[in-house]
Amino acid sequence: MNDAMPPSLPMALMAPDLTVVVPTFNEAANVRPLVARLDAALAGIAHEIIFVDDNSPDGTANEVRALGREKPHVRCIKRIGRRGLSSACVEGMLAGQGPVVAVIDGDLQHDETILPQLFGLIRSGEADLAVASRYVEGGSADSFSDARGKGSRLATELARKILKVGFNDPMSGFFATRRDVVEAAAPKLSSEGFKILLDIAASHPTPLRVREVPFVFGTRLHGTSKMDNRVVADFLGLLVSKATGGLVSIRFLTFAAVGVSGVVVHLLALRGLIAANAGFTLAQAGATLVAMTTNFTLNNLLTYKDRSLRGLAFARGLLGFYAVCSVGAVANVGVATWLFEGNQLWWIAGLAGAAMGAVWNYVFSDLIIWRKKT
Ligand code: GDD
Ligand code: MN
Repeated sequence: MNDAMPPSLPMALMAPDLTVVVPTFNEAANVRPLVARLDAALAGIAHEIIFVDDNSPDGTANEVRALGREKPHVRCIKRIGRRGLSSACVEGMLAGQGPVVAVIDGDLQHDETILPQLFGLIRSGEADLAVASRYVEGGSADSFSDARGKGSRLATELARKILKVGFNDPMSGFFATRRDVVEAAAPKLSSEGFKILLDIAASHPTPLRVREVPFVFGTRLHGTSKMDNRVVADFLGLLVSKATGGLVSIRFLTFAAVGVSGVVVHLLALRGLIAANAGFTLAQAGATLVAMTTNFTLNNLLTYKDRSLRGLAFARGLLGFYAVCSVGAVANVGVATWLFEGNQLWWIAGLAGAAMGAVWNYVFSDLIIWRKKT
């Protein structure tokens, strides 16, 4: 034990007015520099800094804990078996003590010197949401590659049009708000993907008063971006999910996309088996089994990435999935036949049957196979 008083103990003893949430994945080298900068920028504001780390292999969480021994206002929430920027931010914000919460990236790309401004706008009641914006006069994202810059602007436009958010940079990962705002929006947040700010703005029960503060998005010094195709897909899913009032979830869309891929797999397998002289009925049965197996594997990898089954649980899940899909097929044929006999067009009856089967498979897979652990 070290008996010496850590130099920043007074900060730890003060009830924080501001909680700064830093989501991290493989940012070990950025932890100390970031905390030093935050503490400098926030001198005079009682604050705590909460890192939310998804068990980064580079030991980010250990780095935060080590620093927390010196600076007790710094702590770490370590999540195991979970991934996701948005959900990390939500958990950090809900875990905070401060009435004002801010989110900032852990890779030093966000200019922390504007944090006091963001904090001030919330603290004074001038705004419900204070956003560090790249897309207002004085802000920029020059460090973006051409493609990333275009993608970012397009995504921003889509979000503004479809979700009717009235401010300029709903994709910013750098903002401040009151904790009660987060709490009011939390039950509706999709928790997937990168777009936490957009999600809060679109999910809050009442319109928020937003103020934007320009900032220049910097370049990364250490580590790499985690933005990838999956993040883009998540974003598009979020648009659909919010535009349909949550009726169509991102998970369901992924499940449905996997289902469509299953049709392709089915046809390919069917052709192969027929070519191998299997006889049609046997070939069709074989192709069905193949498609169910690839669907299960893909759903386990993508749709339920956060609750992936492994080892024995995978085998058990696969058998359960066969069972769920078999009943789904009966439901599918049942509904289609019923509609067809009620004089619907054949393709409408067919589509409705397929939709029924898809929803059935989804609901029961979600409830039984990839059940959420409580
Ligand atoms: N806990 C956790 N879990 N943190 C994550 C995860 C995750 O799955 N993925 C990324 N992070 C952390 C990173 O470690 C970093 O601190 C921060 O979230 C931002 O991630 P980057 O991978 O650096 O994202 P970016 O720089 O490409 O994207 C930034 O700009 C976007 C706007 O174009 C972020 O600020 C985004 O939020 C923003 O939308
Ligand atoms: Mn980054």
